[in-house]
Amino acid sequence: MWKASERLMDTIRHYASFPATGVSLRQMVQFGDRPSTGTLFRASQFLSEELPIRLAHRVQELGELPDGLNEMPSIKKVRNWYAQSFEEIINLPRPSLTQEVRERLLKGMRNNGGGSKILSEATQNPSIKEGQYRSSPNLINGHDNGNGKGKGASSRRYFVPSDDRGDWPPELDDYNQRFANLLQQIKRRHDGVVTTVAQGILEYKRQRQRLQIDSNIQSFLDRFYMSRIGIRMLIGQHIALTEQKAVRHPNYVGIICTKTNVRELALEAIENARFVCEDHYGLFEAPKVQLVCKPDLNFMYVPGHLSHMLFETLKNSLRAVVETHGADKEEFPVTKVIVAEGREDITIKISDEGGGIPRSSIPLVWTYMYTTVDQTPNLDPDFDKSDFKAPMAGFGYGLPISRLYARYFGGDLKLISMEGYGTDVYLHLNRLSSSSEPLQ
Ligand SMILES: Nc1ncnc2c1ncn2[C@@H]1O[C@H](COP(=O)(O)OP(=O)(O)OP(=O)(O)O)[C@@H](O)[C@H]1O
Ligand SMILES: [Mg+2]
Repeated sequence: MWKASERLMDTIRHYASFPATGVSLRQMVQFGDRPSTGTLFRASQFLSEELPIRLAHRVQELGELPDGLNEMPSIKKVRNWYAQSFEEIINLPRPSLTQEVRERLLKGMRNNGGGSKILSEATQNPSIKEGQYRSSPNLINGHDNGNGKGKGASSRRYFVPSDDRGDWPPELDDYNQRFANLLQQIKRRHDGVVTTVAQGILEYKRQRQRLQIDSNIQSFLDRFYMSRIGIRMLIGQHIALTEQKAVRHPNYVGIICTKTNVRELALEAIENARFVCEDHYGLFEAPKVQLVCKPDLNFMYVPGHLSHMLFETLKNSLRAVVETHGADKEEFPVTKVIVAEGREDITIKISDEGGGIPRSSIPLVWTYMYTTVDQTPNLDPDFDKSDFKAPMAGFGYGLPISRLYARYFGGDLKLISMEGYGTDVYLHLNRLSSSSEPLQ
């Protein structure tokens, strides 16, 4: 097995002393549908510093988890993945650039300095308290609010448009490609992180005979999974932007869809959740879901994130409806999905008549590993890779992770329940999307 050397751990400690730099959805979309080699190269440079900083925080934190949690085999395994990915990024050979190319790359940045300030500045994320998901709990003064401000601003910018007149030396394209390939490899390595950490928590609960996890571990997991969403967003975005140089997808900038159609995604999520429900309970027909949504409601978002949140909340509703009314019922009450379009938010309400949740259990639904399923299904490391293999319920991850996705781009997920009747879940999606990733 791969093991981090002492020297590597020193480097990791050094990187972990810098705060993460949050990026906003708007900044991510500035690349347009065809970034130039120079622009991509600058983004690669930004990420080749930013990703190691974020990975280093995770290595540190996993190593310092309290109460022996850091010693659990699955936690150590995940920590090694982070350290290994860190090492691979900082060791990727960089091209040597001529003075002329350097100046050209820098010039692009200066030209951008004045003009597009509104676009390039990230605002505070409205859904969270300051520092709630901070990149590291120890970095009290770790403030670097978004692109281009704070320490080392000039070299630490994500989006720097470069002029595309004339050719760039082939070394730049070559580096961009090698960097994207490395990111692909890293992304694959980390596919199983959520389930492996969950496994680690189970190991800990068993060994220490704990029934619930305490609030320290809960907030660690919140930070950890939020950070993972951010890292995977930046990686996924960069890989897609690099591929987009060859093949264009209309309405897409990387993995961001500038015209995400809410109705289409909702219909698909409904179909998938009903399919899983029929399969799980052996039903001829799953409870019906009614969708109220304007057909042309589009906004800028990451379709994968929205699908995830809708699928998870719908599965919860369908499960509650079936289990409250009994799987042998001929007809079930209909679950309603209502989509509202405001100036600031798009809000999706999922209302079920699944009997609701006792008020005393409401805080628990946001904790990881809280589930009312008796037997947690087997933790399949491939679980993350395919929604179709996803079980109906049982990990207690559905709601907390969905809320992180919502908050990541400045939205939120709220739940109001009437015990004895049903539950309303409100999914708020911020459409202004200038808010920074909640990592500061
Ligand atoms: N719409 C709902 N109606 C009633 N109870 C609900 C509803 N949504 C969630 N719950 C309760 O909250 C618990 C946690 O939900 P969550 O989605 O986080 O985990 P899960 O569904 O148990 O497992 P999974 O990780 O597979 O989603 C559920 O086990 C269930 O008891
Ligand atoms: Mg669930």
